[in-house]
Amino acid sequence: MLFTTILFTVENGIALITVNRPDKMNALNKTVIDELSTALDEVYKNNEIKTAIITGAGPKAFVAGADISEFLSLSNEQGKELAHRGQEMVFNKIENCPKPVVAAVNGFALGGGCELAMACHFRLASENAKFGQPEVNLGLIPGYGGTQRLTQLVGKGKAMELMMTAHMIDANEAKQLGLVNHVTTAETLLEHTKQILEVIMGKGPNAINKIINCVNAAVVSDSAFTNGKSGYDKEIEAFGECFGTSEMKEGVTAFLEKRKANFNAKL
Ligand code: COA
Repeated sequence: MLFTTILFTVENGIALITVNRPDKMNALNKTVIDELSTALDEVYKNNEIKTAIITGAGPKAFVAGADISEFLSLSNEQGKELAHRGQEMVFNKIENCPKPVVAAVNGFALGGGCELAMACHFRLASENAKFGQPEVNLGLIPGYGGTQRLTQLVGKGKAMELMMTAHMIDANEAKQLGLVNHVTTAETLLEHTKQILEVIMGKGPNAINKIINCVNAAVVSDSAFTNGKSGYDKEIEAFGECFGTSEMKEGVTAFLEKRKANFNAKL
């Protein structure tokens, strides 16, 4: 398979998917989303692949979020579509993959990067990894499942604080919160991840698949409380509504102009 923004290799039953835009901190642009979707389809259907790892290229970033340079011109509808498309094509596809998909977080995992790691079945991180949902800095909210999965993983209070403050946490704090299972050195991250996957590959794939389905079923939102809409649907709506607001224009423009956003000025 020919990809331009990801690397895809298969060795000893393990597919290694590497987001490969290190000069842009591996930000998720439209092409990355398309290519991750194609790679995941291959993980689903190729019988030689038993498990998959998602990681980022270079020493600094796992994925530093969705590509902010694609945001400014989006209408509310297009913002909603961005979130909907990404959730369906990549994030939900990872979560519902019949084979284990594990994140090896090797640096910044911010915004869509933190969401990408959280969509995986579990996560390992190198000591230099940093996690955060900094969308409010841009006048936005998470749109790739972050409001739901962060709450599921770390609990409501901590999730609220992390998303409201945009604070980054390091790998050890992420481990204390249950966001990552193991912290390793940068050099041993992939090896350690593969060792765990080798243990899993020694078990029955049917039982492993059933564990994925059952654990996922434990965290489906209760539609009786949400007028039939899941929290993910609500997030997609709300993400779309952020687009075109003066707050979002200030936040995104400030990032692109490399200055601090001023949300208190009369916008
Ligand atoms: N979208 C688009 N481009 C991004 C990006 C993103 N999410 N994150 C980083 N980049 C780009 C930068 O614009 C810069 O590009 P340039 O060299 O063409 O100017 C390049 O990647 C390197 O990033 P830089 O900010 O110079 O590196 P840094 O080491 O000073 O800071 C981060 C690293 C990750 C802290 C910082 O890039 C950042 O805050 N990124 C945005 C995170 C974010 O808000 N994510 C949520 C998006 S919804």
